[in-house]
Amino acid sequence: MSEWSPDTLDPENWDAFRAQGHRMLDDILDYLEHIRKRPVWQPIPVQVSNSFCEPLPETETELADIHATFMHSIMPFVVGNAHPGFFGWVHGGGTPVGMLADMLAAGLNANLGGRDQIPVEVERQVIRWASDLFGFPNSASGLLVTGTSMANLLAVLVARTARLGQSVRQQGIMANGGKLVAYTSEAAHGCIAQALDLSGFGRNALRMVPVGSDYRMNVDALKNAIEVDRQSGLTPFLLIGTVGTVDVGAIDELNALADVAESAALWFHVDGAYGALAMLAPGLAPRLSGIERADSIAFDFHKWGQVPYDAGFLLVKDGQQHYDTFASPSAYLRREVRGLAAGSPWPCDFGPDLSRGFRALKVWFTLKAYGKAKLGNMIAGTCALARYLAQQIDANPELERLAPVSLNIVCFRYCCDEPDKVNAQIVVALHESGISAPSTTTLQGQLAIRAAIVNHRTSQDDIDALLNATLAFGRSFSTTGTETP
Ligand SMILES: Cc1ncc(COP(=O)(O)O)c(C=O)c1O
Repeated sequence: MSEWSPDTLDPENWDAFRAQGHRMLDDILDYLEHIRKRPVWQPIPVQVSNSFCEPLPETETELADIHATFMHSIMPFVVGNAHPGFFGWVHGGGTPVGMLADMLAAGLNANLGGRDQIPVEVERQVIRWASDLFGFPNSASGLLVTGTSMANLLAVLVARTARLGQSVRQQGIMANGGKLVAYTSEAAHGCIAQALDLSGFGRNALRMVPVGSDYRMNVDALKNAIEVDRQSGLTPFLLIGTVGTVDVGAIDELNALADVAESAALWFHVDGAYGALAMLAPGLAPRLSGIERADSIAFDFHKWGQVPYDAGFLLVKDGQQHYDTFASPSAYLRREVRGLAAGSPWPCDFGPDLSRGFRALKVWFTLKAYGKAKLGNMIAGTCALARYLAQQIDANPELERLAPVSLNIVCFRYCCDEPDKVNAQIVVALHESGISAPSTTTLQGQLAIRAAIVNHRTSQDDIDALLNATLAFGRSFSTTGTETP
């Protein structure tokens, strides 16, 4: 090595490194193969959290030692969404296929901001597949992002530019966008209000339209709100419907919303964070009829699609409007027709990220390895489990269901005195027991145990375990106060 070569970070001994790499791969495959034998979640001992308060290492540490730390201090203390007993929030379970794809992507270390490379073609393939799935035209554009929170924010920005023209990118919304108002339902995810906030419109520019007893947006109330705003001199510009509301999984009436958007000249965006991929299941897809009329759709491959985190996605029907919102030519990103700087437009022209990882690879592997039919069956299967859970709840006088089951989310509670207090205790006890991990929400002022069945590994036994443990903890807490049975 010449005197001026920097220290490379590659292994000195590739054979030893390879053997260590194989041990790491075996350990993580063992983890996935035997995940059922683990607790869903377990409390983190204080000495484990404290071990992550050490100073920045000055010198090298053997990879085998770091791996050992991973095995005893990281692997056992994750959220547990790979486990079939995980029902909290809306978390996908991941797959070994997606994991291996992510490893290959990390090995390539591709930067998908742009340039003439096949990884960008892989992302374009994913965009075309998504476009076909939702009945969008070939001219649609798309972008893999972190998650639906980000995809919704980008959609608001595209809707803004579509409404105000590209001058808004120079002048900002105060020039002529101060009166724009948007609409979504009161069951929408909090990231919608955050998107209005971050894009400069402010949360007050978002009208939270009431929902009916089915948690779907009340379309008459929407029409009324638009009319009232128009009468007050405001300019309605954006309507956001939801496929799979976060609390109960309701699907807004997409055709009715599309009609309203059409007649009122609103940008129609669909937040389908987890629910949009119901399009993969032939029995569910008709319930999303009208989604093809949206101007843009945001959803996650990392939820029902089971792609490892993170893999959010934005699809925009008019690719030109998408491009016009973000493309920012600069000398150092000059495009050519040949060579490495060819292949324009680049993904960085469709969003704010210039450095972008190869998320598309794990999505592409997942869609190719399992195919539409198998993924669709898996999605339909989680809905069947939700119906089974609902039936068991409805048949048991100790339990009460708190919302209709539209897709794969079941909200219920144990019936007792002080139900909010007792049901919150039940959920903590379920988590700490390692048996099951639902989350909670509040529906019409009542605390609900919320089970979102998203994981492809979940079986009827896992649902029975949730039910049995809920009943056991409920009986104990409602008679003794706070003791664990
Ligand atoms: C309806 C809905 N929208 C948006 C989001 C946010 O998605 P992400 O967590 O990928 O940002 C969620 C998350 O659960 C959701 O359910």
